[in-house]
Amino acid sequence: MEGFRVLCLLLVLSKLVISAKSQLSTNYYASSCPQVEGVVRSTVQSHFNSDSTIAPGLLRMHFHDCFVQGCDASVLISGPSSERTAFTNIGLNGFDVIDDAKSQLESLCPGVVSCADILALAARDSVALTGGPNWGVPLGRLDGKRSSASDALNLPSPLESIAVHRQKFADKGLNDHDLVTLVGAHTIGQTDCRFFQYRLYNFTPTGNSDPSINSPNLAQLQALCPKNGNGLTKVALDKDSWTRFDVNFFKNIRDGNAVLESDQRLWGDDATRAIVQNYAGNIRGLFGVRFNFDFPKAMIKMSTIDVKTGSSGEVRKVCSKFN
Ligand code: HEM
Repeated sequence: MEGFRVLCLLLVLSKLVISAKSQLSTNYYASSCPQVEGVVRSTVQSHFNSDSTIAPGLLRMHFHDCFVQGCDASVLISGPSSERTAFTNIGLNGFDVIDDAKSQLESLCPGVVSCADILALAARDSVALTGGPNWGVPLGRLDGKRSSASDALNLPSPLESIAVHRQKFADKGLNDHDLVTLVGAHTIGQTDCRFFQYRLYNFTPTGNSDPSINSPNLAQLQALCPKNGNGLTKVALDKDSWTRFDVNFFKNIRDGNAVLESDQRLWGDDATRAIVQNYAGNIRGLFGVRFNFDFPKAMIKMSTIDVKTGSSGEVRKVCSKFN
C-alpha cells in the first residue's frame, strides 16, 4: 500500500515537471513584453563590445544556474551564504549584464520578465555573438525563492570521472550525447591554472605529468602555469580559438590538447569518445555543422531543467534579491 502511494506521488510529481516544461513557449512574452529579446540581445552586445569575456561568463552562469535548483536564477541572488558565494561559483562573470537588461525591462514592462528567462536568453545570445548557432529559447520560467551556497557544492568538478559526470547529467535528464555537446561550451572561455595545474607536475606516482597531455602542449601549459605559481593565471580552454564558438575544442581533445582533466577524459571513454570524434573529425564535423545543429537542442534541454511555474516561483523586481 505504502509502495503504491509512493508510486502515485512520483507519477504526480513527474506530471508536474512535464507540465511546467510544456508551459514554456518562445512566444511567452509576445503580448506582455514584446521588446524582451531585443533588449537582452542589445544589452549583451553592448557589454560584449567592451569586454568579450562576458560571453563565456554568461554561458557558464546559465549552466551553473540550471544545475542547482533548476533554471530559476537562484545563482543571481546576492547575500552572505547565497548560491553565488559557493566556492564552485567563484569567478562567475556577467552579473552586471543581467542587472542591466533587467532594469531596462522593468522600465518597459514592470514585473513581467523573469531573471531566469533573461539569463537563458543572454546565454543564447552569447553563443551567437561568438559565432555559434542561434535558436528560439522557450520562455516562461519563474525565479526561485531559494538560494543557498550549500546547494551548489555538487556542481560537476573537473577532477571527477566521466562516470560521475554521466550520473550528474543523467540526474538532470541529460544523456551522454548531451554531456559531450554541452561541455563543447568550453570552445569559448578560459580557466584558472588552479583547475588543472596538478596535471602538469607530479601527477603520476613516478612524478611525471598527466600522460594524456601531448608534449608541445605540456610545455606551453607549464610555461603559463609554473609549478609554484599562484594558480590564478587564465588559460584558454580551447587553445586555438577560445573566442570563437567552433569545433576546435573537440579536435584538441582528440589530440591531447584539452586543458581540464574532465575534458580530456571524454576521449578515454568509448561512448563519449565516439561523440567527440564525430564533432572533431568527419566531414560534417569539419565545418561544425553537426555541433551547431546539436548544441541548441542540448541547450534547450538544459535550460528547461526543473523550471518553476505557478506558485513555486515569482518574477523578481531586482535579479539579485528576492521580492
Ligand atoms: C562536466 C561538466 C563541467 C565541468 C567539470 C566544468 C568545469 C569548468 C571549469 C573548472 C571552468 C573554469 C572556471 C574558472 O577558471 O573560473 C569552466 C569554465 C567554463 N565552463 Fe564549464 N564545466 C562543465 C560543463 C559546462 C557546461 C555544460 C557549460 C555550458 C553549457 C560550461 C560552460 C563553461 C564556460 C563557457 C566556461 C568559461 C567561463 C569563462 O571564461 O568565464 N561548462 N568549466
